[in-house]
Amino acid sequence: MESTRNKLIKLLAENNSSYISGQRLSEELQISRAAIWKHMKKLEEDGYKVEGKTKKGYRIIEYPAKTSENTLHWGLQTKWLGEKIIHRASITSTQHLAHQLASEGAPHGTIVIADEQTKGKGRMNRSWYSSKHKGIWMSIIVRPEILPYMAPQLTLLAATVLADVLDAQLGVKPQIKWPNDLLINQKKTAGILTEMQAEQDQIQYIVLGMGINVNHTSDDIPDELRNKATSIYIESKQERSIKDVIQQILQAFEPAYEHYIKHGFSDTKDKWESYGFKIGQEININTMRNSWTAKFNGIASDGALLIENDDGQIKKMYSAEIDWFGEGETKC
Ligand code: BTN
Repeated sequence: MESTRNKLIKLLAENNSSYISGQRLSEELQISRAAIWKHMKKLEEDGYKVEGKTKKGYRIIEYPAKTSENTLHWGLQTKWLGEKIIHRASITSTQHLAHQLASEGAPHGTIVIADEQTKGKGRMNRSWYSSKHKGIWMSIIVRPEILPYMAPQLTLLAATVLADVLDAQLGVKPQIKWPNDLLINQKKTAGILTEMQAEQDQIQYIVLGMGINVNHTSDDIPDELRNKATSIYIESKQERSIKDVIQQILQAFEPAYEHYIKHGFSDTKDKWESYGFKIGQEININTMRNSWTAKFNGIASDGALLIENDDGQIKKMYSAEIDWFGEGETKC
């Protein structure tokens, strides 16, 4: 059951531009005016700035910087994305909880976020290092009315949204390594894991998992990853509010998703290619059976990787890994 404190914050947040009277709060929460006052003191101890005016009532004028369901909702300018947010201090993987909630009927746009993951999942069954309070570990549940074969396009879309946020709002120059690794100065700073529950021609839901290294110093990055992984802080020398960056991502993702659903993949393809890493250059391609070098010609109109082999033949690849260190995919 929802706590009185959370109900109180919600009531104040819903009325954030005006005051809400002590009388009304006491009626809605069914507690005394004195109890309301005690809750307000507690909120202040937790970093909320609450303004109380005689005859008018209360309003929150500042939220604490930490990430929580309430602080994420505060000031979030989206219509449906993040209407429901589940935040955990620690979790095995936000993907696990998102799958569970989605299979129980969680609405389109539900977000699961954690300060830390103890068993973060990367692509290809790799682990994803997700240390406490340093990054964004978030899963978005969407229920798009598209055919299952199109689902990877959403991964590419999510990568372009992250790239836009890094570029426009955080002032770092990102590149996207196919299909969805966000690089800054050729080191990985974010990755996306798309998992889907579908029948033959219908998607039940997709869980889009995003992992973003935000405030890691180089000491926070494990030794074995240091030459391949980075963070926004390392690259820009500026610490960011995790909560603000999450809100920026959600605010950028919602219109981009709506545009994709309405107009198809073509604009996403162009945007992806504008950030594409090594387009027009030689890349190493690894499949289950083979490894070879080919020219990277961008992505096809359906999102597949387009390569040009030495014999001039153009090929579409759907599930290859590409690398540029010559030692396989980065594990981070
Ligand atoms: C990759 O391998 O590049 C994808 C990494 C995806 C990591 C994110 S963090 C939030 C979500 N929960 C997980 O366990 N994984 C994804």
